[in-house]
Amino acid sequence: MISDNLQKAIEILNENELIAIPTETVYGLAANIYSETAVSKIFETKNRPLFNPLIVHIHNINQLEELTSYIPDKARLLASTFWPGGLTLVLKKNSKVPDLITAGKDSVAIRIPNHPVTLALLKQLSFPLAAPSANPFGCISPTKAIHVEEYFGDKLQMVLDGGDCKNGIESTIIGFEGDDPILYRLGAIAVEDIESVIGLVKIKNKEEHTPDAPGMLSKHYAPATTTILEKNIEQSIKSFQGKKIGLLLFSQKINSQHVIHQEILSINNNLEEAATNLYSALHNLDKLHLDIIIAERFPDIGLGKSINDRLERATKK
Ligand code: TXA
Ligand code: MG
Repeated sequence: MISDNLQKAIEILNENELIAIPTETVYGLAANIYSETAVSKIFETKNRPLFNPLIVHIHNINQLEELTSYIPDKARLLASTFWPGGLTLVLKKNSKVPDLITAGKDSVAIRIPNHPVTLALLKQLSFPLAAPSANPFGCISPTKAIHVEEYFGDKLQMVLDGGDCKNGIESTIIGFEGDDPILYRLGAIAVEDIESVIGLVKIKNKEEHTPDAPGMLSKHYAPATTTILEKNIEQSIKSFQGKKIGLLLFSQKINSQHVIHQEILSINNNLEEAATNLYSALHNLDKLHLDIIIAERFPDIGLGKSINDRLERATKK
């Protein structure tokens, strides 16, 4: 049920049950990090493999000390610059953090989300919330309450309504090797913005199959409809003539009678706006029973990199 009843949300979480929560990136499926029962339900509900660790959501930067054993200076700088916001830090965990959250790893992923409803919720709880994106494993992430409701229906007592997600793409994840920052996942905050604060960031190999950040698993965020990523859309439309074609485009419509539906992510040519609309557009296209979705490759700068990353994973066989 979609609801904005914060008190009810607190009650459900206190009873070791799950709710979906709004964040500025995507909706999350949330539970008390200290309740094994509740956290197990996250994995079951999402059909998520247990080797894939969860992000811990906090509301105050001081809570970092309660959960971690070492915080590099660059991590503190990133936290104070970008929190609350779409950046997740992976840090050495301490013994308070349950192994189920971290999939047995000695590190824990943490962020302060920038959403007024969820910040108000976190402040009234006596525990942080573990929350992966609120989609079945491998599917398109939800950026509206209705997306979550359509995925899980009665399996969830509540989708806490916070409107549409402003950023629309998951957080950027930065981990550390010693004191050196490593990019685990492209996301809501452009790498260029991160590098302007802490200098060059190394990129973790994207193709690893048991990666440090399993969000990097190659096939992910995928529509049920076959989806391809192309530079030359017109050419591609030609090769699928006779098929039911849908397009996912950056800023300009294509003139073609062979296309059933087009989603334009930003008529203003703005990459932030495009990221905000990305998943919602994929959800729309996926409902149209198309034969093929042709997505346009984005410019490889700023959030264009994050969008291309998600489209590459969405289009992997
Ligand atoms: O924007 C977001 O990050 C959203 C909202 C709900 O906060 N959450 C999200 O969670 O995207 P999820 O579970 O879909 O993706 C979390 C990613 C996974 O790729 C996971 O492998 C990685 O974070 N991760 C979690 N703990 C980790 C750790 N200790 N080391 C490396 N990667 C970790
Ligand atoms: Mg996810």
